Amino acid sequence: MNNKIYIFETTLRDGEQVPGSQLNTIEKVQIARELEKLGVDVIEAGFPISSPGDFKSVIEISKAVKDPIVCALTRAKKEDIDSAVESLKFAKRKRIHTGIGASDIHIKYKFNSTREKILAKGVEAVKYAKKFVEDIEFYAEDAGRADPIFLAKMVEAVIMAGATVVNIPDTTGYCLPDEFGAKIKYLFDNVKNIDRAIISVHCHNDLGLATANTIAGISNGARQVEVTVNGIGERAGNTSLEEIVMILKTHRKLGLETGIQTKQIYKISQKISQMMKMPIQANKAIVGANAFAHSSGIHQHGILKNRENYEIIDPRDVGIDQSSIILTARSGRAALKFRLEKIGFKLDKPEIDLTYQKFLQLADQKKMVDDQDLYFLMK
Ligand code: KIV
Ligand code: ZN
Repeated sequence: MNNKIYIFETTLRDGEQVPGSQLNTIEKVQIARELEKLGVDVIEAGFPISSPGDFKSVIEISKAVKDPIVCALTRAKKEDIDSAVESLKFAKRKRIHTGIGASDIHIKYKFNSTREKILAKGVEAVKYAKKFVEDIEFYAEDAGRADPIFLAKMVEAVIMAGATVVNIPDTTGYCLPDEFGAKIKYLFDNVKNIDRAIISVHCHNDLGLATANTIAGISNGARQVEVTVNGIGERAGNTSLEEIVMILKTHRKLGLETGIQTKQIYKISQKISQMMKMPIQANKAIVGANAFAHSSGIHQHGILKNRENYEIIDPRDVGIDQSSIILTARSGRAALKFRLEKIGFKLDKPEIDLTYQKFLQLADQKKMVDDQDLYFLMK
């Protein structure tokens, strides 16, 4: 099986569904250019029929980028597909992402329909979209809660109708990792024509399992992951790009690769956080302010001896200059000495011992001791 994992980036579609985080077309184009530099394979640029703004954004993004595939979302409706086709007319490489609900809950309460009719609509949408665009991705919405036998039937039918990628979303973030992995495996074992399409996973984070579920999907054969920068998205968000990419880079034994330029990760994470007014929690994996910060004496001592004692990722790999040694009342002499040397004070052991006592008094009063405080201490 192929060892490349395709990165389908949906910050500009699913990510942008966050209340209060809407972007205008100029901002979306800027982000799309950054995503291209980052090396994503597919940019989901919007849902063109949903608003004139989204339609325009897909047009402008299509003009602005050349390497990634530009993808537009639709429901399984002709008018949505027509709008997507029109919005993608300038794209050098294009994809339509169409689909319909696959779970009985969606079939009954969202569509008031039956499995047979829904399956037929899905197939019809793929066939219709295929008349205009070669690359068609089909999403089986709420696949996480769908009956696997029906899901397998749907996947086989849409591949037969021409889908090149089939997206298995855990729309509500319901699945447990082993359950979701087993669902993907079931499809590989039971869908006759599955080798004719790429299987994609799209996980939401309602139970904090989006990344784990995505990894379970990959481990069972999925070769495309649908992600957003910083994991932003509807409700608790989507699988975060930086987590998946760094998991695959850190666990080389998985033998899987992405085309992501990891050194760009921190920059784009900050940019998207600022533009979308979505602060990043300090302890967010990979990109949070504390992800490479060490404050307890034992850890600081270990890090100063050898970074790998307490870090599994080199911060420079994600574009962060270096780990930070934060001075608090929990810090030890090694950290104090290190920080003083950074601002030009080289002290011998008795001097450090003396300064350390004064430092502790100050650190007990302040939460964090910064460079200004250190200058004051040395005076
Ligand atoms: O979460 C979901 O199911 C989606 C689909 C539209 C792909 O975002
Ligand atoms: Zn989604």
